[in-house]
Amino acid sequence: MEKKRLEGKVAIVTGAGRGMGRGHALLLAREGAKVVVNDLGGEPVGRGADVKVAAKVADEIRALGGEAVANTDSVAVMDGARRLIDTAVEAFGRLDILINNAGIFRVDEIDHMSEEDWDQVVAVHLKGCFATIKYATPIFKRQRSGVIVNIGSDSGLGHPTNSNYAAAKEGIIGLTRSLARELGRFGIRCNAVRPRAQTGMAAAFNERSVKWLPLMEALGKFAIGFEMADRWGAEYKPERVSALVVWLCTEAASNINGRTLYAGGEEVGLFSEPELKRTMTRPGGWDLDSLDASRVRLAGDLTNDFLLKDSIGDKEL
Ligand SMILES: NC(=O)c1ccc[n+]([C@@H]2O[C@H](COP(=O)([O-])OP(=O)(O)OC[C@H]3O[C@@H](n4cnc5c(N)ncnc54)[C@H](O)[C@@H]3O)[C@@H](O)[C@H]2O)c1
Repeated sequence: MEKKRLEGKVAIVTGAGRGMGRGHALLLAREGAKVVVNDLGGEPVGRGADVKVAAKVADEIRALGGEAVANTDSVAVMDGARRLIDTAVEAFGRLDILINNAGIFRVDEIDHMSEEDWDQVVAVHLKGCFATIKYATPIFKRQRSGVIVNIGSDSGLGHPTNSNYAAAKEGIIGLTRSLARELGRFGIRCNAVRPRAQTGMAAAFNERSVKWLPLMEALGKFAIGFEMADRWGAEYKPERVSALVVWLCTEAASNINGRTLYAGGEEVGLFSEPELKRTMTRPGGWDLDSLDASRVRLAGDLTNDFLLKDSIGDKEL
């Protein structure tokens, strides 16, 4: 029989009751890991809760001969995240892998976005990652090992009407880079994946974004990282993303830390890390006149970015 890659390991997957998280949990279990299936069970926009959602996936894993427990805490609440980490230790005695996958979205234009819509989205994604990692880290430090995979999004590359989500997801990338550098010396790795899959969230998101299709069309490939989710083919199955996410937790990826990867459909990839595109030095520093004079040298090819007045007008959509 083939050796399982994660035999003896204990993993937490947040938001594992549906979509890609469910795929991550099932694959981890198939590779021998004991899994804490966390899910609040709310709607894609983050309202409501349902304890059956996490329980169903834990049952599925056990029916396949694996070991799993369900946890229904919200990762957006510090006490919830603490209880989630405690659940792993109480049920299985250790923790090796933390996959921060839980997510919600609330779309709107920035001037119509409510404080609640901003706060909720940032709370689930960005604070949720902080909260679970904060409570998992002492365990990882003690055992001198641990793997964290944070789920980002190519929305973070720039997604009109989804600025709360994009900001939270890009915050996750900064968090990941920082923790890789802070925790690497303890044998703890932290990477991010920007995934893409046809899930309940992707469908609900498309439905609620229809209003802004003209803007997305006009922006073309710059609307989100690459293109609108409704153009993705049937190959964008949620479980296909799980292969890369779970692979990052295995020994084969032991030298990968602080990176952002991509997985969607039949494709996987590695994102570049941003660096200064060009610099100019001026003795005594820059002022408005000298910047005016050097405009072309500094930003000549970057003018008129996304200023679409001519193609769709500046009317409210
Ligand atoms: N679907 C895509 O193409 C896509 C693209 C980029 C990024 N993502 C990200 O991938 C992750 C998984 O998305 P999905 O498409 O599988 O979505 P999904 O809606 O199918 O699953 C997300 C799960 O997270 C759970 N959840 C929400 N808030 C929670 C909370 N506070 N605590 C615990 N659980 C909570 C939900 O109940 C849900 O079951 C998300 O972080 C999402 O933002 C998805």
